[in-house]
Amino acid sequence: MRRKIVAGNWKMNMDLAQTESLIDELTRNMPETVADVMIAPTFTSLYRAFQLLRTHKIEVIGQNMHYEDNGAFTGEISAGMLKSVGVNTVILGHSERRAYFGETDEMLAKKVDTAMKHEMEIVFCFGEELEDRKSGNHFQVVESQLKNALFHFPESAWKNIILAYEPVWAIGTGETASPEQAQEMHKFIRETLAAAYSEELANGISILYGGSVKPGNAGEIFSKPDVDGGLIGGAALKAEDFIAIAKSF
Ligand code: 13P
Repeated sequence: MRRKIVAGNWKMNMDLAQTESLIDELTRNMPETVADVMIAPTFTSLYRAFQLLRTHKIEVIGQNMHYEDNGAFTGEISAGMLKSVGVNTVILGHSERRAYFGETDEMLAKKVDTAMKHEMEIVFCFGEELEDRKSGNHFQVVESQLKNALFHFPESAWKNIILAYEPVWAIGTGETASPEQAQEMHKFIRETLAAAYSEELANGISILYGGSVKPGNAGEIFSKPDVDGGLIGGAALKAEDFIAIAKSF
């Protein structure tokens, strides 16, 4: 059985006090779930979050990191820094990083290499823009995003990779991909992996869906055979909603 995962990407939300309070609500109310639960608070709250969740099964993960190990990169955070505060998993390739901070497939290939070198787990995000879908290029775009950043890895490296398909047009817009659209793309991703590597690898990889997942639609999306969970933005900021989503399997 593939690992099921529900991860909350808090983006640039929640200061330290708000982080403490949301984690308090989550730890008090989160039941045992089929899915592994992760949260990605902002950098300044990571260490506190790690301390608060040290004995809890909710994992604290990073939202981003630089590909260099250290040096003159003002404002950046390295893999070693994340690991030093207890973070072993990092989100890379989020569409907001690509769109607003100029992250390219080439930069992402370097970032995933660095994460791998540090034996970190990677939640790798990718997904097409609205124009790509309208012009019918969405499969090609997704395939090239995956190939350019990840296909240089040998099969053995993939045990540290979780994929997160996030169609850009569905992020923060309230417009979710239909469960059928999500399933169609996730199946395509698995077929692409099977062709490039093996059926075994393709069937073992967890592929999350992200983009306006809410308590009201999570159950149906997660019920699709190739959808292994979700990367949740807005709805991860309310304990009640995030818990409802984590319970949706
Ligand atoms: P929303 O759930 O707010 O659409 O965000 C999805 C996302 O970008 C998670 O990384």
